Amino acid sequence: MDRIEIKKASHFHGEFYPTPDKSISHRAVIFSSLAQGKSVIRNFLRADDPLSTIKAFREMGVEIDDKGMDVIVCGNGIHGLKEPHNVIDCGNSGTTMRLLAGVLAGNHFFSVLTGDRSLRSRPMGRVITPLVQMGADIAARADNKYPPLAVKGRQLQPIRYPMPIASAQVKSSLLLAGLYTEGSTEIIEPAKSRDHTERMLPAFGAKITVEGLSVSIQGGAELQARDVYVPGDFSSAAFFIVGALTIEDSDITIKDVGINPTRTGLLNVLKRMGAEIRIENVRELSGEPVADIHCSNGVGLNAVTITKEDIPSMIDEFPILCIAATQARGTTTIRGAEELRVKESDRISSMVKELRKMGVETEEFPDGLSITGRADLQGAVLESHEDHRIAMALSIAALSAEGVTEIHGVSSVNISFPGFFDIVRRLTL
Ligand code: S3P
Repeated sequence: MDRIEIKKASHFHGEFYPTPDKSISHRAVIFSSLAQGKSVIRNFLRADDPLSTIKAFREMGVEIDDKGMDVIVCGNGIHGLKEPHNVIDCGNSGTTMRLLAGVLAGNHFFSVLTGDRSLRSRPMGRVITPLVQMGADIAARADNKYPPLAVKGRQLQPIRYPMPIASAQVKSSLLLAGLYTEGSTEIIEPAKSRDHTERMLPAFGAKITVEGLSVSIQGGAELQARDVYVPGDFSSAAFFIVGALTIEDSDITIKDVGINPTRTGLLNVLKRMGAEIRIENVRELSGEPVADIHCSNGVGLNAVTITKEDIPSMIDEFPILCIAATQARGTTTIRGAEELRVKESDRISSMVKELRKMGVETEEFPDGLSITGRADLQGAVLESHEDHRIAMALSIAALSAEGVTEIHGVSSVNISFPGFFDIVRRLTL
């Protein structure tokens, strides 16, 4: 079923576990595939994106069992991958393609990475340029900018690379390539992006040093298997946090959510807007902070101004922040967010187009948008633009819209959150 009809909800109540973290699930599979021995990944996200990563490593000879509750990966070490017989299809997953590019650049065989229509239009020059500086042999479509990528593995050299954009995918790709060098590779970020790689890779035996915005990896270390427990995904929880803040009668608790500060910028912004959100039972799981999040619709929200500095720690939360902005008093402005144009869809134009159909006053800028609230949302016929986060954000908006909203392209939620509509149903019953 690729379309759904959603009616205005009278309430939003309950307690639930969000899906496991997507970024951490990808990394757990990649690092354990490169480690010597058997790793067990508990609470793995069985959604299309991380499953693309599993498929890719299976095609390179790694034994991965994902039939039961846990995913069991039997890695053969950083030099244990085999040349794939066919093109590797990364599906919709930018994380799979960019992190794999770093791994494959240092593996002495030939491989080709491709993906779906959305992924084939996403910029790959941002990983190809620094990897080529490290000595990689990579060719790509449209003058080395877009997938497919053809990689011929080679001996890599360490580099010092000041990144022009804050991107955890680029940083992680280069750290993985750095494993295949003899020496120290240093990456300097313009702003801190999510740091799951720096937290998890040392636990497998990599030598990583973090000093402010600089991250270095010492090449040559062998990785050893270890078990990983994946916490709940803050980016999935975010849809329900904003749901609770925008649907009139609401009171929800989201359990076991990752609250890594490089991911929770949305919480700070919502607090600036006046939201009351309680973080309870803070603890640590596999090197990541985790908590239960409680929120309800109490005080109303006020508009906020988002600038470049706010962006990296909430890069995936813009579609749902836009929904909060429709219910805030005043005009919310988001600037310095041009990266949103190269996500699974152009999230600036996708949101402007769909919110206008719901009667929202919104203006598009090259690097962001403005939204004027409080809008009386109207049910309409909407498009997900085949983007999972747009589909989920519009579904949350539909719960406070008059009449019926019909959303097309909702099977895209399977990219990161297969049980999304079941939880929506449970909270609105
Ligand atoms: C991700 C990093 C982010 C994010 C993506 C997942 C990761 O992309 O948008 O959903 O797992 O490293 P960028 O690092 O390119 O901003």
